[in-house]
Amino acid sequence: MNRRTFLKASSAAILATGAGRAWAQSGLRPLPLIPMTDLTQGINGRIMLALNPSTHDFGNGAASQTFGINNNYLGPVLRVKQGQTLPFSVINGIGDVTTLHWHGLHIPGEVDGGPHQEVEPAATWSPDVPIVQHASMNWFHSHTHGKTAQQTYNGLAGVLLVEDDASLAADLPKTYGVDDFTLVLQDKMFSGAGQMSYVLTGEVFEDGFQGDTLVVNGAIAPVGQSVPTGLVRLRILNACNARFLSLSMAEGPITVIASDGGFLASSVQTESILMSPGERYEVLVDMRAAESNSLMVGFDGDGEGGEEGALGFLSGLFGGQANTLAALTLTRTGDQGFTGSMPDQLANLGAPDPTQASVTRSFELQMDTGADLAALAFAWGNICGDGAMSINGQPMNMDRIDEEVRKGDTEIWRISVDDQLHPFHIHGCSFRILSQNGTTPPAYAQGWKDMVHVEEGWSEVLVKFEHDAPADAPYMYHCHILEHEDCGMMGQFTVA
Ligand code: C2O
Ligand code: CU
Ligand code: CU
Repeated sequence: MNRRTFLKASSAAILATGAGRAWAQSGLRPLPLIPMTDLTQGINGRIMLALNPSTHDFGNGAASQTFGINNNYLGPVLRVKQGQTLPFSVINGIGDVTTLHWHGLHIPGEVDGGPHQEVEPAATWSPDVPIVQHASMNWFHSHTHGKTAQQTYNGLAGVLLVEDDASLAADLPKTYGVDDFTLVLQDKMFSGAGQMSYVLTGEVFEDGFQGDTLVVNGAIAPVGQSVPTGLVRLRILNACNARFLSLSMAEGPITVIASDGGFLASSVQTESILMSPGERYEVLVDMRAAESNSLMVGFDGDGEGGEEGALGFLSGLFGGQANTLAALTLTRTGDQGFTGSMPDQLANLGAPDPTQASVTRSFELQMDTGADLAALAFAWGNICGDGAMSINGQPMNMDRIDEEVRKGDTEIWRISVDDQLHPFHIHGCSFRILSQNGTTPPAYAQGWKDMVHVEEGWSEVLVKFEHDAPADAPYMYHCHILEHEDCGMMGQFTVA
């Protein structure tokens, strides 16, 4: 079966899927452009981020209860530059305690926005966040211990694009909303009346929350966007609570130029990218020859995560059984756009050298503690306040420091799991993946990362921490399935 026939076959499979509601397939909504605040030219006063309850129409006509950051739903795209210090004012209007973590930033623990930097209702948190790292796509989201999943799902998430001299001068598309788009991909559940819903059950604790409807920038997919003739850049965030997504193009391979922590050494062409919650990839779409092309998003169709889902999803992709949706269709207008060509050399990235490492640490993610997850879900409402999940046998404890790291040391972190596929994240750094599930990571995951997939065998990363994280403001490492994180699959470490 060639790729085209496969796509036709798979869209028939979507309609045939009986379980739950299939991806919304009717009509093509316009791609919402997330409001962008460009601070690369300079910053005036404090950068206000107002977190508030709101309502938002995802495109089905219903007003869903949401949280937003300066918006009805989600936050703005902040575009900043290496060398700046960002004077944030995070104003908590949600009526509950919250935090705002800068995922991907190499910043001191004190301003990291993890579970220790709680912002009380009606209070304002004013961290000055120094941007020392290279151009990269980062994001910010709630990290309130036990409530991260629910608050992030409701909309407390936004995108932070770091530029540097090289990225601003690079021969790449960079006109926001014209040939440079930020895509926030999420899966949602909607009630019969069309309201966004989030209900925890034992199963949801186990697999993490998995919605049956794909949402792009807050609009139910599929969405469409017209673009000029030329290259188009898509900066993509998987902001699902728990779902791995497979990205591909309807026509031709997908061209990847950057991962979590910045540009790859050179662009990588591949059939598909397997993207975990929390990961970011930048891709280029060549709209010089094609009239239109679509970003395809595939997921495991049975609504079950974990081993079954993830594997079923992969084999499904090749066996024609996965649910795959043309999430975003780009259509060419005929105007002349970005005239450059596919870049070759992007960043100066050598192979990681594990012989530099002086310390090796091991982490085993565990979820089989015999806890009655269904009872837990019932007892706690829509939050997980219990340590039903753990790392190295211990559920997250805010009062316990699990690891102490020496600043500037190069370390190898080896992560394994006792069950299913988990995405592991480390605060305060970018790392390089030495091995993923016991094997070499795909070429598109060989650059700077802060997320690694862990399923079988060991996943190993080479990491170095350059900033302080004291005992009262430690960094976190955790599974980025947010329900697992809330349930205790997280640990804390200091850097000094
Ligand atoms: Cu994106 Cu500790 O998180
Ligand atoms: Cu993070
Ligand atoms: Cu997990």
